[in-house]
Amino acid sequence: MNNNYKLILGDVFEGLNDLQDDSCDLCIVDPPYGASTTKNWAYGADNKIKGFGGDWKLTSEAWDLLSQNDSFLSTYKWLKELKRIIKPTGSIWIHSTYHNSGFVNVCCQLLGLEIINEIAWYKRNSFPNLSGRRLTASHETILWVHKGGEKNRKYTFNYEETKSFSAPYDMLKEPGKQMRTVWDIPNNKSKDEMQFGSHPTQKPIRVAERILLISGTPNGTLLVPFAGSGTEMVAGLNYGMNVIGFEIDSEYYNLAKKRLENVVTNKANTLF
Ligand SMILES: C[S@@+](CC[C@H](N)C(=O)[O-])C[C@H]1O[C@@H](n2cnc3c(N)ncnc32)[C@H](O)[C@@H]1O
Repeated sequence: MNNNYKLILGDVFEGLNDLQDDSCDLCIVDPPYGASTTKNWAYGADNKIKGFGGDWKLTSEAWDLLSQNDSFLSTYKWLKELKRIIKPTGSIWIHSTYHNSGFVNVCCQLLGLEIINEIAWYKRNSFPNLSGRRLTASHETILWVHKGGEKNRKYTFNYEETKSFSAPYDMLKEPGKQMRTVWDIPNNKSKDEMQFGSHPTQKPIRVAERILLISGTPNGTLLVPFAGSGTEMVAGLNYGMNVIGFEIDSEYYNLAKKRLENVVTNKANTLF
């Protein structure tokens, strides 16, 4: 079966109003982390670290420059909407780092969204800390939550698939053993994932694929509120779900659109 996608160029806070209660089976949220800075990161020419060189600039994206108050309030706002939209059989996955993970956790608890698991995504190849004044940040946090309330504990969990899963790059997962809450997934992207361009905070598709393996519903609906380059939407389409996404920036919208069209064309070609 061919699945559909709907990518909307615009503000997710307006778009979510149009989605009905209990209408989505899965939601993957990769929101602005509020981690950006306007500072330039000058990498001194005398600082010789093997394998690295050049001038570096930290991510400084307008959409990510949120005050702490705005970050908290917007997290609360989109989580409240997602709680309304997600089915009792569905679940929501939320990416974060320490910049916003406290907000996400507190907002889930305030809204009665029940936390199923907290994942530590271990990035073995993470970028070194060039200042030498902090540890190398090498993980992100992902919260897996459901609608909340005991009677709603009907969320999809593809237990057998998670147990049999293994991947050559993941040194923590053995086939036949239960999947743990630490995922060893390198942060690199394949040529395929970058063929239409890149996004400053693009996720490797393997992370979204793992989420779908655990909680995907074939032919169900996946909602991606902050689409970026479309990684989670592409993974959802490949998995066999219908996908809805929002992106406010036209450059990223166009990039995501190209990636999604590519999936649709490839799927159509395999039918002949
Ligand atoms: C962290 S990035 C998502 C990256 C994505 N996971 C990927 O792999 O490409 C967040 C995205 O949300 C978009 N965004 C921020 N605020 C938004 C809003 N209010 N409505 C829709 N999109 C928004 C940004 O333009 C950015 O592309």
